[in-house]
Amino acid sequence: MNLVSAYLRVREWLRSIEQIRAWVVFLRPVVAYARVVSCKLAVIGKCKYWRHMWRRPLLSLAFIFMDPEVTNFTYAIGNLDELGNFMARIFRVEPEAAGAFIRELEEDFDFRSELNALLRTRPDRKHIALYGRRAGWYCAVRLLKPRVVIETGVQDGLGSSVLLRALERNRAEGMDGKLIGIDIVLSSGWLIPARLRDRFTLVVEDSKTALPRLADQETVDLFIHDSDHSYERELGEYQAIRKALPTDGVVISDNAHGTDALKRFSEAHSRGFYYWREQPKDHFYLGGSIGVSTGGIISCAEKLS
Ligand SMILES: C[S@@+](CC[C@H](N)C(=O)[O-])C[C@H]1O[C@@H](n2cnc3c(N)ncnc32)[C@H](O)[C@@H]1O
Repeated sequence: MNLVSAYLRVREWLRSIEQIRAWVVFLRPVVAYARVVSCKLAVIGKCKYWRHMWRRPLLSLAFIFMDPEVTNFTYAIGNLDELGNFMARIFRVEPEAAGAFIRELEEDFDFRSELNALLRTRPDRKHIALYGRRAGWYCAVRLLKPRVVIETGVQDGLGSSVLLRALERNRAEGMDGKLIGIDIVLSSGWLIPARLRDRFTLVVEDSKTALPRLADQETVDLFIHDSDHSYERELGEYQAIRKALPTDGVVISDNAHGTDALKRFSEAHSRGFYYWREQPKDHFYLGGSIGVSTGGIISCAEKLS
Protein backbone atom coordinates (compact mmCIF):
# COMPACT_ATOMS: atom_id res chain seq x y z
CA MET A 1 0.00 0.00 0.00
CA ASN A 2 1.46 3.33 -1.00
CA LEU A 3 1.12 6.52 0.98
CA VAL A 4 -1.72 7.92 -1.15
CA SER A 5 -3.96 4.89 -0.78
CA ALA A 6 -3.25 4.81 2.97
CA TYR A 7 -4.22 8.47 3.17
CA LEU A 8 -7.46 7.80 1.22
CA ARG A 9 -8.34 4.89 3.44
CA VAL A 10 -7.86 6.94 6.63
CA ARG A 11 -9.94 9.75 5.12
CA GLU A 12 -12.74 7.32 4.31
CA TRP A 13 -12.54 5.88 7.77
CA LEU A 14 -12.74 9.36 9.34
CA ARG A 15 -15.72 10.18 7.13
CA SER A 16 -17.59 7.10 8.25
CA ILE A 17 -16.88 8.03 11.89
CA GLU A 18 -18.27 11.48 11.13
CA GLN A 19 -21.38 9.90 9.63
CA ILE A 20 -21.88 7.69 12.68
CA ARG A 21 -21.51 10.74 14.92
CA ALA A 22 -24.14 12.60 12.86
CA TRP A 23 -26.48 9.62 13.24
CA VAL A 24 -25.91 9.51 16.99
CA VAL A 25 -26.67 13.25 17.28
CA PHE A 26 -29.81 12.72 15.19
CA LEU A 27 -30.92 9.61 17.04
CA ARG A 28 -30.34 10.85 20.58
CA PRO A 29 -33.56 12.94 20.80
CA VAL A 30 -35.45 10.19 18.94
CA VAL A 31 -34.30 7.63 21.52
CA ALA A 32 -35.13 10.04 24.37
CA TYR A 33 -38.61 10.62 22.90
CA ALA A 34 -39.17 6.86 22.47
CA ARG A 35 -38.09 6.34 26.07
CA VAL A 36 -40.63 8.93 27.33
CA VAL A 37 -43.41 7.33 25.27
CA SER A 38 -42.55 3.87 26.59
CA CYS A 39 -42.45 5.21 30.20
CA LYS A 40 -45.95 6.63 29.66
CA LEU A 41 -47.20 3.29 28.32
CA ALA A 42 -45.70 1.59 31.39
CA VAL A 43 -47.46 4.09 33.70
CA ILE A 44 -50.75 3.54 31.83
CA GLY A 45 -50.42 -0.21 32.35
CA LYS A 46 -49.32 0.04 35.99
CA CYS A 47 -52.03 2.52 36.98
CA LYS A 48 -54.71 0.77 34.86
CA TYR A 49 -55.67 3.98 33.04
CA TRP A 50 -57.48 2.02 30.26
CA ARG A 51 -60.88 3.13 31.57
CA HIS A 52 -59.84 6.78 31.23
CA MET A 53 -58.30 6.26 27.79
CA TRP A 54 -61.29 4.43 26.40
CA ARG A 55 -63.51 7.40 27.28
CA ARG A 56 -61.14 10.02 25.87
CA PRO A 57 -59.27 8.42 22.94
CA LEU A 58 -58.03 11.59 21.22
CA LEU A 59 -56.84 13.15 24.44
CA SER A 60 -55.14 9.83 25.24
CA LEU A 61 -53.18 9.94 21.98
CA ALA A 62 -52.28 13.58 22.66
CA PHE A 63 -51.01 12.51 26.09
CA ILE A 64 -48.94 9.60 24.78
CA PHE A 65 -47.28 11.47 21.91
CA MET A 66 -47.26 15.15 22.90
CA ASP A 67 -47.47 15.63 26.66
CA PRO A 68 -44.09 16.07 28.41
CA GLU A 69 -45.38 14.77 31.77
CA VAL A 70 -45.06 11.09 32.59
CA THR A 71 -46.69 11.07 36.05
CA ASN A 72 -48.29 13.52 38.49
CA PHE A 73 -50.26 15.07 35.63
CA THR A 74 -51.19 18.73 35.69
CA TYR A 75 -54.25 20.21 33.99
CA ALA A 76 -56.92 22.84 34.40
CA ILE A 77 -60.24 21.67 35.79
CA GLY A 78 -63.74 22.43 34.57
CA ASN A 79 -65.63 22.30 37.87
CA LEU A 80 -63.88 24.96 39.96
CA ASP A 81 -67.29 26.40 40.93
CA GLU A 82 -68.22 23.09 42.51
CA LEU A 83 -64.92 23.10 44.38
CA GLY A 84 -65.83 26.48 45.91
CA ASN A 85 -69.22 25.14 46.99
CA PHE A 86 -67.60 22.02 48.43
CA MET A 87 -65.14 24.05 50.51
CA ALA A 88 -67.90 26.43 51.62
CA ARG A 89 -69.96 23.48 52.90
CA ILE A 90 -67.07 22.05 54.92
CA PHE A 91 -65.88 25.30 56.42
CA ARG A 92 -69.33 26.86 56.85
CA VAL A 93 -68.83 30.00 54.82
CA GLU A 94 -70.82 31.52 51.96
CA PRO A 95 -70.04 29.84 48.61
CA GLU A 96 -69.03 33.27 47.25
CA ALA A 97 -66.35 33.60 49.95
CA ALA A 98 -64.78 30.21 49.11
CA GLY A 99 -65.15 30.87 45.37
CA ALA A 100 -63.39 34.22 45.79
CA PHE A 101 -60.33 32.46 47.23
CA ILE A 102 -60.22 30.01 44.34
CA ARG A 103 -60.42 32.91 41.88
CA GLU A 104 -57.74 34.72 43.89
CA LEU A 105 -55.35 31.86 43.06
CA GLU A 106 -56.45 31.32 39.47
CA GLU A 107 -56.18 35.06 38.71
CA ASP A 108 -52.87 35.55 40.50
CA PHE A 109 -51.01 36.17 37.23
CA ASP A 110 -47.72 37.30 38.82
CA PHE A 111 -47.51 34.12 40.87
CA ARG A 112 -48.31 31.94 37.86
CA SER A 113 -45.65 33.77 35.81
CA GLU A 114 -43.08 33.07 38.54
CA LEU A 115 -43.89 29.35 38.39
CA ASN A 116 -44.02 29.32 34.59
CA ALA A 117 -40.52 30.80 34.40
CA LEU A 118 -39.21 27.96 36.59
CA LEU A 119 -41.18 25.31 34.66
CA ARG A 120 -39.63 26.55 31.41
CA THR A 121 -36.25 25.36 32.67
CA ARG A 122 -37.51 21.76 32.41
CA PRO A 123 -38.27 20.06 29.07
CA ASP A 124 -40.08 17.27 30.93
CA ARG A 125 -42.71 19.59 32.39
CA LYS A 126 -45.58 21.67 31.00
CA HIS A 127 -44.50 25.28 30.81
CA ILE A 128 -47.64 26.60 32.42
CA ALA A 129 -48.60 26.04 36.04
CA LEU A 130 -51.96 24.27 36.19
CA TYR A 131 -53.12 23.70 39.75
CA GLY A 132 -56.04 21.27 39.31
CA ARG A 133 -57.51 20.26 42.66
CA ARG A 134 -54.65 21.95 44.53
CA ALA A 135 -56.85 25.05 44.26
CA GLY A 136 -58.88 23.34 47.03
CA TRP A 137 -55.79 23.17 49.24
CA TYR A 138 -55.24 26.88 48.65
CA CYS A 139 -58.83 27.63 49.56
CA ALA A 140 -58.56 25.53 52.75
CA VAL A 141 -55.47 27.48 53.88
CA ARG A 142 -57.10 30.83 53.12
CA LEU A 143 -60.22 29.85 55.09
CA LEU A 144 -58.60 28.04 58.02
CA LYS A 145 -55.59 30.35 58.54
CA PRO A 146 -53.47 27.45 59.88
CA ARG A 147 -50.26 28.04 61.82
CA VAL A 148 -48.75 24.71 60.82
CA VAL A 149 -49.40 22.77 57.61
CA ILE A 150 -47.74 19.44 56.77
CA GLU A 151 -47.73 18.02 53.24
CA THR A 152 -46.34 14.54 52.59
CA GLY A 153 -45.10 14.10 49.01
CA VAL A 154 -43.67 17.36 47.71
CA GLN A 155 -42.30 16.26 44.31
CA ASP A 156 -41.70 19.41 42.19
CA GLY A 157 -43.40 21.57 44.78
CA LEU A 158 -46.43 22.73 42.81
CA GLY A 159 -48.78 21.98 45.70
CA SER A 160 -46.25 23.37 48.20
CA SER A 161 -45.99 26.60 46.20
CA VAL A 162 -49.75 26.98 46.17
CA LEU A 163 -49.90 26.37 49.93
CA LEU A 164 -47.05 28.82 50.57
CA ARG A 165 -48.73 31.48 48.44
CA ALA A 166 -51.88 31.07 50.55
CA LEU A 167 -49.81 31.32 53.74
CA GLU A 168 -48.12 34.43 52.39
CA ARG A 169 -51.51 36.05 51.79
CA ASN A 170 -52.65 35.03 55.29
CA ARG A 171 -49.48 36.60 56.72
CA ALA A 172 -50.22 39.87 54.95
CA GLU A 173 -53.56 39.76 56.79
CA GLY A 174 -51.87 39.17 60.17
CA MET A 175 -52.11 35.34 60.40
CA ASP A 176 -48.67 33.78 60.18
CA GLY A 177 -48.17 30.13 59.27
CA LYS A 178 -45.54 27.68 58.02
CA LEU A 179 -45.38 24.60 55.80
CA ILE A 180 -43.39 21.43 56.45
CA GLY A 181 -42.99 19.26 53.36
CA ILE A 182 -41.85 15.64 53.55
CA ASP A 183 -40.38 13.71 50.62
CA ILE A 184 -37.78 11.01 50.12
CA VAL A 185 -36.21 12.79 47.12
CA LEU A 186 -33.54 15.38 47.88
CA SER A 187 -34.37 17.69 44.95
CA SER A 188 -38.06 17.92 45.89
CA GLY A 189 -39.53 21.38 45.91
CA TRP A 190 -37.28 22.81 43.16
CA LEU A 191 -40.30 24.69 41.79
CA ILE A 192 -40.94 26.69 44.96
CA PRO A 193 -40.07 30.36 44.30
CA ALA A 194 -37.17 31.55 46.48
CA ARG A 195 -39.20 34.33 48.08
CA LEU A 196 -41.70 31.80 49.50
CA ARG A 197 -39.10 29.58 51.13
CA ASP A 198 -38.73 31.44 54.43
CA ARG A 199 -41.80 29.66 55.85
CA PHE A 200 -40.95 26.29 54.27
CA THR A 201 -39.02 23.35 55.68
CA LEU A 202 -38.28 20.33 53.53
CA VAL A 203 -37.78 17.12 55.49
CA VAL A 204 -36.03 14.59 53.24
CA GLU A 205 -37.13 11.39 54.91
CA ASP A 206 -39.68 8.61 54.67
CA SER A 207 -42.98 9.90 56.06
CA LYS A 208 -43.17 6.74 58.16
CA THR A 209 -40.27 7.88 60.34
CA ALA A 210 -40.65 11.66 59.95
CA LEU A 211 -44.31 11.95 60.99
CA PRO A 212 -44.12 10.36 64.48
CA ARG A 213 -41.26 12.75 65.33
CA LEU A 214 -43.05 15.81 63.90
CA ALA A 215 -46.23 14.81 65.73
CA ASP A 216 -44.29 15.12 69.01
CA GLN A 217 -42.99 18.56 68.07
CA GLU A 218 -45.87 20.36 66.34
CA THR A 219 -49.57 21.06 66.56
CA VAL A 220 -50.71 20.44 63.00
CA ASP A 221 -53.73 22.50 61.94
CA LEU A 222 -53.80 21.09 58.40
CA PHE A 223 -52.32 17.81 57.22
CA ILE A 224 -52.21 16.87 53.53
CA HIS A 225 -51.42 13.35 52.35
CA ASP A 226 -49.94 13.23 48.83
CA SER A 227 -47.05 10.75 49.12
CA ASP A 228 -47.13 7.00 48.44
CA HIS A 229 -50.78 6.27 47.77
CA SER A 230 -51.04 2.74 49.12
CA TYR A 231 -53.85 2.20 51.62
CA GLU A 232 -51.49 1.13 54.43
CA ARG A 233 -49.15 4.11 53.92
CA GLU A 234 -51.99 6.59 53.78
CA LEU A 235 -53.73 5.24 56.88
CA GLY A 236 -50.37 5.01 58.67
CA GLU A 237 -49.78 8.72 58.04
CA TYR A 238 -53.17 9.66 59.51
CA GLN A 239 -52.58 7.48 62.56
CA ALA A 240 -49.11 8.96 63.07
CA ILE A 241 -50.30 12.56 62.89
CA ARG A 242 -53.54 12.13 64.86
CA LYS A 243 -52.11 13.14 68.24
CA ALA A 244 -50.78 16.39 66.70
CA LEU A 245 -54.20 17.44 65.38
CA PRO A 246 -56.09 19.98 67.50
CA THR A 247 -59.84 19.35 67.94
CA ASP A 248 -60.56 21.44 64.83
CA GLY A 249 -57.58 20.03 62.89
CA VAL A 250 -58.22 19.23 59.23
CA VAL A 251 -56.83 16.34 57.16
CA ILE A 252 -56.87 16.33 53.36
CA SER A 253 -56.27 13.28 51.20
CA ASP A 254 -55.18 13.83 47.64
CA ASN A 255 -55.96 10.18 47.01
CA ALA A 256 -59.59 9.84 48.07
CA HIS A 257 -60.41 8.31 44.66
CA GLY A 258 -57.69 5.68 45.18
CA THR A 259 -58.37 4.38 48.69
CA ASP A 260 -60.96 4.92 51.42
CA ALA A 261 -58.26 5.29 54.09
CA LEU A 262 -59.33 8.80 55.11
CA LYS A 263 -63.02 7.85 55.20
CA ARG A 264 -62.25 4.90 57.48
CA PHE A 265 -59.93 6.98 59.65
CA SER A 266 -62.70 9.59 60.00
CA GLU A 267 -65.29 6.97 60.93
CA ALA A 268 -62.97 5.37 63.47
CA HIS A 269 -62.36 8.70 65.19
CA SER A 270 -65.85 10.26 64.85
CA ARG A 271 -64.66 12.88 62.39
CA GLY A 272 -66.59 14.43 59.52
CA PHE A 273 -65.68 13.21 56.03
CA TYR A 274 -66.29 15.02 52.72
CA TYR A 275 -65.48 13.94 49.16
CA TRP A 276 -65.16 15.86 45.91
CA ARG A 277 -64.00 14.81 42.44
CA GLU A 278 -62.34 17.12 39.92
CA GLN A 279 -63.07 17.14 36.18
CA PRO A 280 -59.89 17.76 34.19
CA LYS A 281 -60.13 19.77 30.97
CA ASP A 282 -58.08 18.76 27.91
CA HIS A 283 -56.55 15.68 29.53
CA PHE A 284 -57.30 11.98 29.16
CA TYR A 285 -57.21 11.51 32.95
CA LEU A 286 -60.75 11.57 34.30
CA GLY A 287 -59.68 13.21 37.53
CA GLY A 288 -58.57 12.63 41.09
CA SER A 289 -60.36 13.54 44.28
CA ILE A 290 -60.01 15.45 47.47
CA GLY A 291 -61.13 13.87 50.72
CA VAL A 292 -61.43 16.15 53.73
CA SER A 293 -61.66 15.00 57.33
CA THR A 294 -62.66 17.46 60.03
CA GLY A 295 -62.74 17.21 63.80
CA GLY A 296 -66.19 18.53 64.79
CA ILE A 297 -67.96 21.40 63.09
CA ILE A 298 -65.60 24.01 61.74
CA SER A 299 -66.86 27.49 61.08
CA CYS A 300 -64.43 29.81 59.36
CA ALA A 301 -66.92 32.63 58.86
CA GLU A 302 -65.55 34.69 61.78
CA LYS A 303 -61.98 34.28 60.54
CA LEU A 304 -63.02 36.12 57.39
CA SER A 305 -64.59 39.07 59.16
C1 LIG B 1 -47.92 12.56 43.83
S1 LIG B 1 -46.29 13.09 44.14
C2 LIG B 1 -46.57 14.55 45.10
C3 LIG B 1 -47.17 15.67 44.32
C4 LIG B 1 -47.14 17.00 44.98
N1 LIG B 1 -47.79 17.01 46.27
C5 LIG B 1 -47.77 18.05 44.09
O1 LIG B 1 -48.53 18.88 44.57
O2 LIG B 1 -47.48 18.05 42.88
C6 LIG B 1 -45.76 11.91 45.31
C7 LIG B 1 -44.45 12.22 46.01
O3 LIG B 1 -44.38 11.39 47.16
C8 LIG B 1 -43.05 11.06 47.40
N2 LIG B 1 -43.02 9.85 48.24
C9 LIG B 1 -43.22 8.58 47.86
N3 LIG B 1 -43.08 7.75 48.92
C10 LIG B 1 -42.81 8.53 49.99
C11 LIG B 1 -42.55 8.26 51.36
N4 LIG B 1 -42.52 7.01 51.82
N5 LIG B 1 -42.31 9.31 52.19
C12 LIG B 1 -42.31 10.57 51.72
N6 LIG B 1 -42.54 10.88 50.43
C13 LIG B 1 -42.78 9.88 49.57
C14 LIG B 1 -42.48 10.85 46.01
O4 LIG B 1 -41.08 11.01 46.05
C15 LIG B 1 -43.21 11.91 45.20
O5 LIG B 1 -42.41 13.07 45.08
